[in-house]
Amino acid sequence: MKITVTGGDIAQHKADAIIVNLFEGVKKPGGATGAVDQALDGAISDELASTAAFKSKLGETWIFNTYGKLPARYVIVTGLGKQEDFDSAKIRRASAAAVRACLRLKVSSAASIIHGAGIGGHDAESAARLVAEGMLLGAYKFDKRKQKKNDDKAPELSTFALVEHDAKKLDKVKQGAKTGEVIAHGVNTARDLVFDSPNNVTPATLRDVAQGIKGLTVSVLERKDLEKLGMGAFLSVARGSDEPPYLLHMSYKPPKKARKKVAIVGKGITFDSGGLSLKPPQSQETMKMDMAGAAAVLGTMKAIAELGDLDIQVDGFVATCENMPSGRASRPGDIVKTMNGKTVEILNTDAEGRLILIDTLTYAQKETDPDEMIDLATLTGACVIALGEVASGLMTSDQGLADRIIKAGEPAGEKFWQLPLYEEYQEMLKSDVADLKNIGAKGQAGTSSAGMFLKNFVDEGRKWAHLDIAGPAYTSTDQPEVPKGATGVGVRTLLYYLYGLN
Ligand code: BES
Ligand code: ZN
Ligand code: ZN
Repeated sequence: MKITVTGGDIAQHKADAIIVNLFEGVKKPGGATGAVDQALDGAISDELASTAAFKSKLGETWIFNTYGKLPARYVIVTGLGKQEDFDSAKIRRASAAAVRACLRLKVSSAASIIHGAGIGGHDAESAARLVAEGMLLGAYKFDKRKQKKNDDKAPELSTFALVEHDAKKLDKVKQGAKTGEVIAHGVNTARDLVFDSPNNVTPATLRDVAQGIKGLTVSVLERKDLEKLGMGAFLSVARGSDEPPYLLHMSYKPPKKARKKVAIVGKGITFDSGGLSLKPPQSQETMKMDMAGAAAVLGTMKAIAELGDLDIQVDGFVATCENMPSGRASRPGDIVKTMNGKTVEILNTDAEGRLILIDTLTYAQKETDPDEMIDLATLTGACVIALGEVASGLMTSDQGLADRIIKAGEPAGEKFWQLPLYEEYQEMLKSDVADLKNIGAKGQAGTSSAGMFLKNFVDEGRKWAHLDIAGPAYTSTDQPEVPKGATGVGVRTLLYYLYGLN
C-alpha cells in the first residue's frame, strides 16, 4: 500500500472511501466531518440522533453510502473515544480501525483526514505520522505461506491518501507520513519474521535479513568465532541443533559526532523445544516466536537505517540459534564457562535465553562500551503469568533509563511494567558447583531471577534495561493496529525512545 499526501477538501476527494472522525458523545459534527455531513444532507447527524449504537467509541467505525452526493462511494466515520482521554496511541488506533473498515468494504482506494491535527491539538507532523502508522499496521496480514489467499478476488487496498486542507501544513504532513511509513515497515518486518514458521526462519535467515539492511555496517560471527571468544554459554545452547548459530552485529553511525551510544540486544531462539528439558507439545506450538526480541532489533535497525537522521550511534546485536534435544545437546548438570569468565551450571536446558544473552551482553559491552544497553527477550513464562499479554516486564540497573523507556512506550502504544531486581534474588542463583546456576527457586519470582541472572553480566555502573516481552510478543487477541499473533512489540518503543517521538 502506498501512502500519498494531498491538499484540499476531503469531501471533494475522489477515492472509493473517505475517512472522517468523531469524538465520543458529539452529536453535531464540526470541521471536516461537519462538511461531509452537510454534503450528505445531514446523514451523519441524523444517524447520531436516531441510533443509540453509534457512539464514536475508540475502535468503532460507522459506514455511510454517499449515493452520489460526493465523489467517494463510502464515508467511514472512525471513533476517537472521549476527547479528554485523547492521545497519540488513540490516533494510531482510530486510523487502524478505519483501514480495517476499508478492508471489509474491499475498496481499492481510500483517503483520510489527519486525526488529531485539528481539534485534537496534535501538531500536523506527529498526527500524520500516527495516522500513517495506523494505516499500515492495521492493514497488515501474514498470508505469504497460503496458496489461496482469503480474499483472492477482492482488489487490494492499494492507494491511501492523507488529505490536509491547510496548504501551509503540507510539508510537515509529508514528513510525518514518511516517518510513519518507515516505523510501520519496521514493525511489520518484525511481525513477518515472528509469524513465519521455524523451518522457514532459521538463524541463517536472521543473518540474511541483517546483511540485507542497507546503510548499516553488519558483521556476522560464526561458531568458530564464538569459540575463539570463549562464549561457552551461547555455544552450549546451539550444540543440540544442526542449524549453525550466529551472533549478528549491526551498527548505525550518525554522519556527525554521535550524541550517545546505545546498544540493543535481542534473543533470537528460532525454535525453543526446551532442549533435553523438553517442553510439552502444547508449549512448543508457539515457540517459533522465541526470536521476537531479535526480530524487534532487526525491525528497529532497519527503520533507523531508512530514516538515517538519528544523532545517536545504535548498535544492534542478535544472538541466534535453535534450542534442540539431540545426542550432542547440553545436559542438565553441565557446567559451562562464559565469555567473561564466570561459570554456569545448566540445571534446566529450557532456560536457554539467558545463556545466549549473557555472552552477547558481555560482547556488546566490550565491543561498543555503550552509554545505554537495552535487551529484549521472550525470556520467561512467569512474565506471561504476571502481566499477561498486555505488558512487558522491565528490569533495570538505572531508574532514569527505565522511566524513559516506560514513557516512550505510551505514545508508542506499548506497555512496560517494572519488576524488581532485589539483591535477595541473587541468593536463588547460587550453585553448589559453579559460580551461578541458570534457574532460580522453583515457583518464585521467575522473571526477576532471570533478570538478576543477566545482571551478573552487566558491568558495574552500566545503564541497562532488560525487557521481558514474552507476553506481548505473540497474542491471542486482535486489536485494530495489532493483529492476533506476532505483534512486533518493542520496535515502536525503541524508535520512539531513540528519536524522542511522542
Ligand atoms: N522461551 C521461553 C519463555 C517463554 C514462555 C516465552 C512462554 C513465551 C511464552 C524460555 O526459554 C523458557 O522456556 N523459560 C523457562 C525458564 C524456566 C525453565 C526457569 C520458563 O519460563 O518456563
Ligand atoms: Zn526455553
Ligand atoms: Zn526460550
